[in-house]
Amino acid sequence: MERTMQLSQRAMNYPASGIRKMFDLAIQYPDAVKLTVGEPNFDTPAYIKEAAKKAIDEGQTHYAPNAGMFELRQAIAEKYHHYWDGYTMDHVMISVGAMEGLTLSMMLLLDPGDEILVPDPCFPNYFGQACLAGATAVPVPTYEAYDYRIQAADIERAITPRTKALLLNSPCNPTGAVLTKEDILAIAEVVKKHDLWVLSDEPYDSIIYDGVEPFSIAQLPEVRDRVFVLNSFSKSYAMTGWRVGYLLAPEASYVKKMAQLQEGIASCVSTFSQVAAAEALKRTDCVDQMVADYTRRRDILVDGLNAIPGITCKKPAGSFYAFPNIKAFGKTSQAFAEELLEHAGVVVIPGSAFGDMGEGYLRLVFANSDENLKEAVRRIGAYVAKAYPDLK
Ligand SMILES: Cc1ncc(COP(=O)(O)O)c(C=O)c1O
Repeated sequence: MERTMQLSQRAMNYPASGIRKMFDLAIQYPDAVKLTVGEPNFDTPAYIKEAAKKAIDEGQTHYAPNAGMFELRQAIAEKYHHYWDGYTMDHVMISVGAMEGLTLSMMLLLDPGDEILVPDPCFPNYFGQACLAGATAVPVPTYEAYDYRIQAADIERAITPRTKALLLNSPCNPTGAVLTKEDILAIAEVVKKHDLWVLSDEPYDSIIYDGVEPFSIAQLPEVRDRVFVLNSFSKSYAMTGWRVGYLLAPEASYVKKMAQLQEGIASCVSTFSQVAAAEALKRTDCVDQMVADYTRRRDILVDGLNAIPGITCKKPAGSFYAFPNIKAFGKTSQAFAEELLEHAGVVVIPGSAFGDMGEGYLRLVFANSDENLKEAVRRIGAYVAKAYPDLK
């Protein structure tokens, strides 16, 4: 009998990662300096690891409630009272990283055929997450001239009758852009006018520099009823492998619905990871220390890149990503990234992996040692001086 089985359209349409391509190429260059992986280079702070070990020894090894453990949800609700003092445990859902929180909230809010606006360039997983919900992520261009901060007018231009939601990501991966209160006030007007849901993806909210105060659209009472906040312990507490994220919904009934979806996806987040996450929240000194180190590393990398002819790089206001402009080299960002890998021994991600607006840029991660960052700058500088002697 002829075989007629087929994979689902959803699986077939799921976009491949442009980031992985550089990882795969880099395997052939074991001595290359890798500025690619978007995670802290710090180990998880000791007091958090101790809490997990203790939780395991005490038998916290069973299923947890679908929406997450009460103590952790309670602690998160309290942490967000400066956004809205109405948040309670019932507005909080624990997810498998912010990643699953994004997927769950898109599944909650989007139907097949719906569109969700995302910044361009952006974290490429938003496209796959929208695809899982049967929806489409539609890029909204962001510009270097505005420090890559998404502008209300550009959002409004991208709206169609099918637009149902807007995704904001501040501080932004890959650009480090941090939205100002003025940006957000203007965006809130558009959101109200066009009746959109908002997903505010904020996993880098504590990795922010130069005294900049992050401001979230969830802090605006006039749009709060449409805003979901996504966050996680991954970046702030160096806990990427623990897979603990969370979301705050404007109504408890939304969390109840997502908890039902969670039952069929992961059931719950690892119990002892949740206990450790609750312990993590009791302190912020370790976060402050990591941010002090990131600040120094940002300056090593960005100042170093700006001293290389042909490269210009704005200082990111948040996150641990630098997003230099390499248009002067007249190459696609993929071609230039491959050149740096082959001839300079430095692995970076081409900006085009994050969207069309990323063409002409590279993403470099400065969550790395001072020595590696200095060596990367030295190698790129030496290569550019040799290969592009006419650039000043
Ligand atoms: C912008 C952004 N959102 C969400 C995530 C998901 O992080 P996690 O699932 O580890 O919380 C990441 C991770 O790189 C990210 O960069």
